[in-house]
Amino acid sequence: MSEDFEPKILAFCCKYCAYAAADLAGSMRLSYPPNVKVIQIPCTGRIDIVHILKAIEDGADGVYVAGCMEGDCHFVSGNLRARKRVEYVKKTLTELGIEPERVEIYNLSSAMGPRFAEIAHEMTDRIRKLGPTPVKTRTV
Ligand code: FES
Repeated sequence: MSEDFEPKILAFCCKYCAYAAADLAGSMRLSYPPNVKVIQIPCTGRIDIVHILKAIEDGADGVYVAGCMEGDCHFVSGNLRARKRVEYVKKTLTELGIEPERVEIYNLSSAMGPRFAEIAHEMTDRIRKLGPTPVKTRTV
């Protein structure tokens, strides 16, 4: 794999928790890799399987969904539905011969700025090891 490979990673972040945690990380001046593009969503329950697969098809090397802690979703069970969808996408990727580790889901609270930065580092390291997505057709 090329040493120059810089993964493109999309993070779908719930505005009540992960997005707020990203803000907190910024306020705390915690750095995280610029590889991660954060997309604010109203709840992880809004994420559909097709959003994740489309992101990969469009060139994301990795995608993760970050929602509220279990039991804390503002829409009761959005994060539980999101977990099931992410698991489904992982299964689908496996069947297609694509590493399921390219997709992940995390739960965090708005107070977890340092954890947000840590996750961004974790995912960037993980995807860097996996290399570019094999399905890249366009640039995100
Ligand atoms: Fe945050 Fe549902 S409101 S995951």
